[in-house]
Amino acid sequence: MLKSNFTKKHLLKLLMENPDELISSKELALQTRISRQAIWKAVESLRSEGINIEAIPQKGYRLCSGKVESFSPSLISANIPEVCPWGVDITLLNTVGSTQAYAKDFARKDCPDGTVFISTMQETGRGRRDRKWFSPPGGLYMSIVTRPRIAPSSLQLISLASALALRQALLETTSLSFDLKWPNDLLWKEKKLAGILSEASMEPDRIHFAVIGMGINVNIPESSMPSHLLSRSVSLQMILGREVDLTLLASQIIYSLFTEISLLESDDHEQLVRKYASCCTTLDREVEIHSDEGIEKGLAIDISSRGELVVKFPDMLKTYAAADVIHAPLCY
Ligand code: BTN
Repeated sequence: MLKSNFTKKHLLKLLMENPDELISSKELALQTRISRQAIWKAVESLRSEGINIEAIPQKGYRLCSGKVESFSPSLISANIPEVCPWGVDITLLNTVGSTQAYAKDFARKDCPDGTVFISTMQETGRGRRDRKWFSPPGGLYMSIVTRPRIAPSSLQLISLASALALRQALLETTSLSFDLKWPNDLLWKEKKLAGILSEASMEPDRIHFAVIGMGINVNIPESSMPSHLLSRSVSLQMILGREVDLTLLASQIIYSLFTEISLLESDDHEQLVRKYASCCTTLDREVEIHSDEGIEKGLAIDISSRGELVVKFPDMLKTYAAADVIHAPLCY
């Protein structure tokens, strides 16, 4: 297990701002306000994350040039823009049952807003409605703990905000625009690239925490995709024909999610819902709704101000807060 922290983030940022340049430990100690001894310890810890830092006695430290290949929590943290307070505390696991279960344990123990848990694979990854989530190496599996200051009645909007954030992060890192399927699947030509599981603990008047779990098929080649998933799933590697930098993608997701949740807290729900609706391919489509009430077929026409799906039936309109949606094939 590897962990980032504030000191390592700060130190790495300083080294990244001056690549190939020697910075004395006195200067680093001054800037980070910690002792030279603590700088040495932090450098050792960064090296154990695979970050190549050279130490020259009496002269100082420098980040060795060249692309840093390592998938390291401190590197993810250092790549998050300064305005974002999230992602200081990132835990990277080689494997785990489910990052979601792991994160919820820490959320119950009061870990701070914006604490992140990532794994390079999962043994028992979980999707919505208790389905399994295929989690082989090469994917990105992350759960982010947030303590949003919004009314429990707006909970569903967290799901929508998360989908928008993931879409934006993917656009920034790959230049690809994904469609959103209500409530929060990301699709490429109707095939699923990523899914989001948002779970919350709350009282009638307050949300204690929400854990937003994202599973993204990133560097998974077609040959590793099980045949039963191939007809409905896709990975970034399959679309782009190359691998994608997991570090940059993870940093961008954390930053985008912080931005969207902040917007939600600022009460601008209308803007969020309109932005979501403009990327939501479920709207104006014939859909099959699988909910606790059974299976129904109708026309998805809108997203309500609470983030519910509004569906038109011959004799009435219905809104759904939670359901599975199947899109009817598009006819051109
Ligand atoms: C879905 O579309 O059904 C949601 C899938 C969510 C999967 C992610 S992977 C990270 C986190 N850990 C889990 O066990 N599930 C979520």
